[in-house]
Amino acid sequence: MGSSSPSPTPSRRLPSCGRTWRPARAPPQRIERAMAAVTRVILDKIPVSEPVPSDFRLVGEATGSELEQGQVTVMTRMLGLNAGLRARLGTGSSTTLGPAIDIGDTPQSDGIGLVVQSRHPGLDEGDSVVGLLPWATSSNVDGARLRRLEPGADALRQLTILGHVGLTAYAGLVTVGRLQRGETVWISAAAGGVGCCAVQIADRLGAEVIASAAGAERLNFLQRELKVRHVLERTRELGPQLREAAPEGLDLYFDSVGGEHLASALDAMRDRGRIVLVGRAGRDLRRPVLDDTSLLIRKRIQMIGFSVTDHEDVRPELEALVLRTDVDQPMVGVASLRNGIESIPEAFCDLLAGKVLGRVVVELPVARARETQSSQVTSSL
Ligand SMILES: NC(=O)c1ccc[n+]([C@@H]2O[C@H](COP(=O)([O-])OP(=O)(O)OC[C@H]3O[C@@H](n4cnc5c(N)ncnc54)[C@H](OP(=O)(O)O)[C@@H]3O)[C@@H](O)[C@H]2O)c1
Repeated sequence: MGSSSPSPTPSRRLPSCGRTWRPARAPPQRIERAMAAVTRVILDKIPVSEPVPSDFRLVGEATGSELEQGQVTVMTRMLGLNAGLRARLGTGSSTTLGPAIDIGDTPQSDGIGLVVQSRHPGLDEGDSVVGLLPWATSSNVDGARLRRLEPGADALRQLTILGHVGLTAYAGLVTVGRLQRGETVWISAAAGGVGCCAVQIADRLGAEVIASAAGAERLNFLQRELKVRHVLERTRELGPQLREAAPEGLDLYFDSVGGEHLASALDAMRDRGRIVLVGRAGRDLRRPVLDDTSLLIRKRIQMIGFSVTDHEDVRPELEALVLRTDVDQPMVGVASLRNGIESIPEAFCDLLAGKVLGRVVVELPVARARETQSSQVTSSL
């Protein structure tokens, strides 16, 4: 358990956006009311191919379970959803990010919450915390897995550029990918949660950034808002687009997709290029990418699989890079907001389908009527 103190710079919001919640100590009567009932999302059916909202179900419980020593009860305020959960959903497979999720299980994502009861020595009632939380309005969590947030911290930043997705982007590009100033890097799934962080981090490090996504709206966003110079439409043939954007070839490929993307990158790599294997968002992975390894040998290419869970130690480096003040272009946390626990199943499916820009963040209002809404915000640093 640690403590995080981001800069107090206020958030900038796009015209259509919602609120950005900042943690503050909650009055006791609100805490009592919030503990009265728990609603959680469970996996109700094994997804047939792509998950649909009806694969999930909301269930209610009268009260939460007994608090064990070392645990805290956390009232969830925001959850940032992760595409990587798909690999564990009804597949019987676990990943480095967590165990297999079976029928009746409640998925978890990194989120922000309010401690309403504590049996952990480092956390008190009223503390705001960030860490892995179940898709539930409130839950008992091991306090050691949570970091305390300073009052006034920008919750949205903590779930975007300074959070799990930002750390994935930083560790993948810098620690594993060894990205250097002046190198050319291709970032796939660039309009998603990890991707929006990766393009900004690579740019700040002085790399030449190529970003791919699907659809004019997403490509325009990357160019206009995140200042990416070269964008690729991933639904069109990638080879010719890559040759035009990087005539000298790629030094680094940040692969969140696999399949055809990876095959195209192998063709486009320079000698001694590196490929960081981040995820497999492209489900059509039937083409065997490595039916012939001679390309890897001839070009001396390194392909490295990585998990962000091994790289918590570089969080201070990420914070130092993101919070630099001697730069013209501030980094932004990009998120699409949804509202209420009942919006989670659809929000998760929209995330997988690439229907949302940036990270999907679900806000769980506590003491006001819940309405479902969607809006997009950028939180400037
Ligand atoms: N290794 C690790 O430690 C680690 C940690 C976190 C996340 N990840 C991985 O990082 C990747 C991004 O995660 P995220 O949570 O930020 O998700 P995300 O990028 O917000 O969402 C997935 C993205 O995949 C793209 N996509 C969907 N279908 C596709 C297809 N058939 N072919 C190519 N692209 C497709 C969509 O964008 P477009 O339609 O615009 O292309 C969508 O934005 C995922 O693969 C995840 O598993 C890995």
